[in-house]
Amino acid sequence: MTVLEVIKRSTPFLAQKGVESPRLQVELLLAHALKLPRLQLYLNFERVLADAELETLRTLVKRRGQREPLQHILGSVSFCGLELAVSSDVLIPRPETELLAERAWNFLNLNPSGSPGTQPAGCHALDFGTGSGCLAIAIAVKSPGARLVALDVSAAALSVARANAERHQVSDRLQFLESQGFTALPEGSAFDLIVSNPPYIPSGDIAALPPEVRDHDPRLALDGGADGLDFYRRLAAEAGAFLRPAGRMMLEFGDGQSETLRALLANAGWQVESVENDYSGRARILVLGR
Ligand SMILES: C[S@@+](CC[C@H](N)C(=O)[O-])C[C@H]1O[C@@H](n2cnc3c(N)ncnc32)[C@H](O)[C@@H]1O
Repeated sequence: MTVLEVIKRSTPFLAQKGVESPRLQVELLLAHALKLPRLQLYLNFERVLADAELETLRTLVKRRGQREPLQHILGSVSFCGLELAVSSDVLIPRPETELLAERAWNFLNLNPSGSPGTQPAGCHALDFGTGSGCLAIAIAVKSPGARLVALDVSAAALSVARANAERHQVSDRLQFLESQGFTALPEGSAFDLIVSNPPYIPSGDIAALPPEVRDHDPRLALDGGADGLDFYRRLAAEAGAFLRPAGRMMLEFGDGQSETLRALLANAGWQVESVENDYSGRARILVLGR
């Protein structure tokens, strides 16, 4: 069977299983199986697949048809141009979170020595709920003077994040901390920046999520409590104690949560500096000061 025939046969199979963008998904799986950049497939449409290659591809397409996420099958995801390993122990980093990373490193790079009192060590930032480490690692790569603490309640997630940090050679500036909320942070810890993409799905909405999310992202990474806002209440009440006076807190949140969150955070004494939109124009990031 040729490359083009494989694409044409597998695409309707994935479509029938409810997979979005089925042709693109087949092409990405095929490129992975053949160890080629995807666009090279277009120059090799007539190439005949060896039996072993066909068998490998069948297995991959079958897994995708069972709604296993593409990123788990490939084993990695690109985040801010960095290749990061992912598994079922961590949330698959989402494109909108790249915006949060960018806002964070821009802030740190405009304040390279941190808030007053930080010198000479440079900025100190906290990633609350680091998962794969995507935010902390991207910030460390783009802000070479910054030091970060990346905390998570999940030891399994932290071991994925540690390996990702090593891969991108930022381990010397990243401290990983297993912590239930802020509890394991040493007393007196003070940060110029706190970033977080906390769990924000209302518990009752999880069952209706696509199978790729519902069955493969860790529940711990999704479940934000009855109204999805448990972690924001916690951050609103507790994060201020760890933020330097001129510091910022930057939070990602779910579509439609913006107004409730503004009120919640303002009531807890936070100043909303800006609300930022994602690529489709929906409010998704809050930038806050004290
Ligand atoms: C939505 S995921 C975000 C992961 C990563 N920062 C990202 O943006 O892809 C939320 C993370 O918070 C962690 N988490 C959940 N409950 C927590 C808690 N009580 N304390 C610390 N981290 C927690 C989860 O394990 C998960 O890794």
